[in-house]
Amino acid sequence: KEIRVFSPATVANVNCGFDLLGFALEGIGDEILLRKVPQQGIKIVRIEGAELPLEASKNVAGVAGMALLEHIKADYGFEIEIKKGIPLGSGIGGSAASAAAVVFGINQFLETPFSLQELAYFGMKGEAVASGNEHADNVAPAIFGGFTLIPSYNPFTIVSIPVPANLYVTIIHPHIEIKTKEARQLLPKNITLQDSITQSGNLAGLVAALYTSDYKLLQNSLHDVLVEPHRKALLPLFDTAKEIALTNSALGFGISGSGPSMFSLCNGKASAEKVEKALSTLYKEQHITIDSHISKVSTVG
Ligand code: HSE
Repeated sequence: KEIRVFSPATVANVNCGFDLLGFALEGIGDEILLRKVPQQGIKIVRIEGAELPLEASKNVAGVAGMALLEHIKADYGFEIEIKKGIPLGSGIGGSAASAAAVVFGINQFLETPFSLQELAYFGMKGEAVASGNEHADNVAPAIFGGFTLIPSYNPFTIVSIPVPANLYVTIIHPHIEIKTKEARQLLPKNITLQDSITQSGNLAGLVAALYTSDYKLLQNSLHDVLVEPHRKALLPLFDTAKEIALTNSALGFGISGSGPSMFSLCNGKASAEKVEKALSTLYKEQHITIDSHISKVSTVG
């Protein structure tokens, strides 16, 4: 018996929710085929669309699957095939998508399935292999869909947040590599009380805006005083791109996870297209290669 699972690309942090907030994109993601076999463990038989290790212990999908199988002391295993739809190292949750798909897929074979929150926990274990740090702000929205908030890591808690109708995102992906581990090392260990107040206010405002579909509050809340100032130098033309996105009707602009992709949240597809066009022109003029992509923010898991 085999099943096929699609797992979406995701944007983590969403400016003011570092390690806590993320959302899933419609229509772009990884696809995983799982086949139950009598042999224990995870065997990755094929990876399409990217050069990644087939060895399960070195692959996020393999590690996430193993974490779940070991937890239930399974006396069987899975062969998996991975079709990567998310470009490697693009900063829109490629490793989280594969990890999420495998644990979600295995769960379909269990007599007593885990909850989505428990699956996100196993997925996070797998993703830690890629980033060197346990954070679930990509894996949670990949599993739940829509926007997710992690109000606490201990106890591990995920809250699914409603998505206003008509919310679109424009992704700009410059062809550079940023390692999450290194991008995390740029961050200060201590922050000021004033910055903490500003950031908490923005996160609270953003969550309230999502619940009430208040686009004005959403726009006022999409700021990041803690992380962006320390990471933005890694991204080509960040400040100019931000200014252009915002003057071309984006509600907010920021780094997707630890980059290198940048995202603009927009009210409606036409606005997302306008932002995409303006940013593509900017990068083209400066001879910087990018990919761009427009998606609706997903409303389902
Ligand atoms: N919250 C993580 C970070 C996401 O920004 O380091 C990485 O994809």
